Amino acid sequence: MKIIDEKRVTYFDEFKIERIVSEPSINYNLFEYELSQRLSEQIKIFSTLEKNLPLFNAESFGNQVHFQNAHKTPVQRWFPYREGYSTKLVHSFLDELNITGNVFDPFCGSGTTQLASRQKNLHSFGIDVNPISILVAEVENEFYNRKDIEDIEIYIREIDLVSHPEEIFKTKFELAKRVFNKDILQSLLNFKIIIEKIENQKVRKIFFAAWLAIIEKVSNVKKEGNGIKYKNRIRTPSGYINIDKEEWEENVFPEDKFKYVKNVLVAHLNVIFNDIKNHYGECDKPPKFFNGNCLNFTEYFKDDIQLTFYSPPYCNCFDYFEIHKVELWLGGFVDDKKEFKELRNNGFRSNTNSLNHKEIRYRNENIEALIELFDFEILWSKKIPNVVRGYFDDSYTLLKTLFDQTIPNGYIGIVVGNSAYTGVIIPTDIIIADIAKEIGYKVKDIFITRHLTTSSQQKIALNPLKDFLRESIILLQK
Ligand SMILES: C[S@@+](CC[C@H](N)C(=O)[O-])C[C@H]1O[C@@H](n2cnc3c(N)ncnc32)[C@H](O)[C@@H]1O
Repeated sequence: MKIIDEKRVTYFDEFKIERIVSEPSINYNLFEYELSQRLSEQIKIFSTLEKNLPLFNAESFGNQVHFQNAHKTPVQRWFPYREGYSTKLVHSFLDELNITGNVFDPFCGSGTTQLASRQKNLHSFGIDVNPISILVAEVENEFYNRKDIEDIEIYIREIDLVSHPEEIFKTKFELAKRVFNKDILQSLLNFKIIIEKIENQKVRKIFFAAWLAIIEKVSNVKKEGNGIKYKNRIRTPSGYINIDKEEWEENVFPEDKFKYVKNVLVAHLNVIFNDIKNHYGECDKPPKFFNGNCLNFTEYFKDDIQLTFYSPPYCNCFDYFEIHKVELWLGGFVDDKKEFKELRNNGFRSNTNSLNHKEIRYRNENIEALIELFDFEILWSKKIPNVVRGYFDDSYTLLKTLFDQTIPNGYIGIVVGNSAYTGVIIPTDIIIADIAKEIGYKVKDIFITRHLTTSSQQKIALNPLKDFLRESIILLQK
């Protein structure tokens, strides 16, 4: 591997980013494997795409691109938004690039980019298609004054004094009976109604976000992989077994289910309350959030942008609506299947549920060549080729619109992971860089932050190319 040591004194040095350019990231000539046609074709495509790209090993960003430490981080711990990154990551880019103008995140999720911008007193905008994300982002970026803080304390005490209800509450969520213990469901619905009656709007929102945040913990399901899994389905050395629902619930939850839900909720509200007391300062430039599709972001605001920093859905069929399904239904964000479908259809085309028969206008020969290599006999859905095409079509539209809205010399930072189907890697980082060049951006850096794992079957097929299964940060400049 050809290694060029590039000495640049930058803010990133504090993060011990190895500024090593490896060009290209595998040695295409001295390949020790006997290559199948599928592998050699991929290598050809990757080598074309990687040519002259500034690739950097940046492993110390590796633990910043995910949410693992967020459950300990004040404010970010208010809602377990598993797909987020750290505020520290955003800070390092804001400082390195000397950002003084507007910041934008078109996939704001829980609002991490805004939280970080706000801490540096920068004005920022955020869009997300999922109404839960917008609620969480707004709540985490709100300024709470003395009166709000007093109200929060009073309402926590009131919640703590609520006694077991007599009434029976209903929900439109058809799966509720499976997803919850009967008494836990009733308790959750009862607290929702109590929270909806809180007069102070800021406090009502924060209590509602706290209520949403505890749902997974008190339910019979957990978010895992690409969806939700039942906690009573347990893996044993001889395979999965299903423990009887009632038996499992009696073993796992305390006898007084109402008191249990109340205690979990009050404990979480106290965490939030302490963060608000200790970590909130005035902010002259509160961020603005919009619930919608980021491809139409200019319909929401028209301000110039200096830095757009984001992590889009990855091209791996992960469905953000499926993973938040329980909260969306129980929280009343969707009332019927049609509404749920409409939400999904507004999402970036990164999964089989979000295709919406939209036309594919952007064509790229490398993408087509990779799709041709798929083993269609084992591909789990016929829709996947169009997921891949749709994904880059949407990426193109977004980058093109951003180009027009970004000030000269402004930046775009994209945290993204590559994916694989039937032993064929979709190298999203270098394809995005290719699309960006076509639009007119300069590709400043591609920081390779960590390597990803895949299913064991694919792992064997991909062994020679495993370095391409990675999560990177692409930095573009207008
Ligand atoms: C990787 S997450 C972003 C996490 C965020 N950076 C954080 O720290 O919380 C991607 C987000 O994109 C959102 N999303 C998917 N399609 C979208 C679209 N078309 N427009 C706006 N947001 C979208 C999802 O709801 C999800 O919140």
